[in-house]
Amino acid sequence: NLLQTIKDFEGQFTVDTKKLKEIVDHFVKELEKGLSVEGGNIPMNVTWVMGFPNGDEQGTFLALDMGGTNLRVCEISLTEEQGGFDITQSKYRIPEELKTGTAEELWEYIADCLQQFIEYHHGEENLAKLPLGFTFSYPATQEYIDHGVLQRWTKGFDIEGVEGEDVVPPLENILKQRGLPIKIAALINDTTGTLIASAYTDPLMRIGCIFGTGVNAAYMENVGSVPKIAHMNLPPDMPIAINCEYGAFDNEHVVLPLTKYDHIIDRDSPRPGQQAFEKMTAGLYLGEIFRLALVDLLDNRPGLIFEKQDTSKLRKPYLLDSSFPAAIEQDPYENLQDTEELFERVLNIKPTPAELELIRRLAELIGTRAARLSACGVAAICKKKNITSCHVGADGSVFTKYPHFKARGAQALREILDWAPNEKDKVTIQAAEDGSGVGAALIAALTLNRVKAGN
Ligand code: BG6
Ligand code: GLC
Repeated sequence: NLLQTIKDFEGQFTVDTKKLKEIVDHFVKELEKGLSVEGGNIPMNVTWVMGFPNGDEQGTFLALDMGGTNLRVCEISLTEEQGGFDITQSKYRIPEELKTGTAEELWEYIADCLQQFIEYHHGEENLAKLPLGFTFSYPATQEYIDHGVLQRWTKGFDIEGVEGEDVVPPLENILKQRGLPIKIAALINDTTGTLIASAYTDPLMRIGCIFGTGVNAAYMENVGSVPKIAHMNLPPDMPIAINCEYGAFDNEHVVLPLTKYDHIIDRDSPRPGQQAFEKMTAGLYLGEIFRLALVDLLDNRPGLIFEKQDTSKLRKPYLLDSSFPAAIEQDPYENLQDTEELFERVLNIKPTPAELELIRRLAELIGTRAARLSACGVAAICKKKNITSCHVGADGSVFTKYPHFKARGAQALREILDWAPNEKDKVTIQAAEDGSGVGAALIAALTLNRVKAGN
């Protein structure tokens, strides 16, 4: 019956303290492995961002932010007042078909948005003097800060001819063809931007995280702790930001408590075997996990739910995004009337009161698991760096919009890091400054200052 089904789901989706700790222990080892010469599942990409801003950075910059869902163009002026900035921006939705289209279509679309922004906001001023920070939120190998070779697409993107290629020249070329003499000064990741932008206004910030369409974090390492760049003979105590790309944590499936739904998501994704941690925690997948669990009941427990209803809509992969379980969790009514309306409107299904209870519990379990697992990445970086107390800057749609995500993540951190029940939280995850706008501008400024200083 339904109560037994709820219990089954609880068994599959609950991650207790012991398991959290086991995951974190493995996570710390995997972070280390990623920094080694041999490498591991987690790329631990070197970003060439060598240190935090000191507040004296100045100038006007363009920022182009290509995340998983939106494309944003910003113009940022870092003002003379320490930590101050002005920002103008436009946001464009990345069309679904572009994510699996051709490389040319992608670069043309980005150039269109940039051109539109410039024509509208910038007029005839000298563009050549305006450096651009390009936030390209995918794993990239960088030998220089203004270049990056895409390692692999993540977040459901599958555009041929970009993996293994430097993404900067095609964009610069297309801009040049359109008479836009823009120089890409820095290619950055959203997590690195978040780290730098947050540290700009809060000196206690040590980690930048994204909990959005994808999940990932960046933190500052010492060059001496990164064996894979030892051959460059840089000063060992020099700081260097590492973009972990820890969505790829445990691609080997050693420790993560995968359900059969996680296996299906992986199998049917454009990149099976990749991004194991991300597929259990990120916004792109939460609605799909929820849908797969219900479809499983329809297929394998005939007559248990939605009897005599047309369930054809529910069978459409990725029909439900994370706003769907989020809205269910947000339903304030005892009788779950918002959830009932949502099911009728989106899926054409009218659940019974008992089914509504099951639906709510399932959403809670998926949201709670995502938040608790997400905390493992943050805890692992703290443990690796022996950080006992710090601020963590976070951004992304799951962090900012998914109900209870912050509280559940904080609770998991308390359990993992063994704080006494009445102790104040020592590691706190807080809403970040706009990493992909301000962070990109700051990194472009830091880069140009370094170039000027000749290093
Ligand atoms: C935004 C940042 O606020 O958060 C992006 O500007 C980042 O750079 C994004 O990629 C992540 O959110 P989501 O939910 O759109 O993936
Ligand atoms: C994916 C990307 C990563 C990005 C994260 C959050 O994991 O690979 O680069 O930081 O999503 O947007």
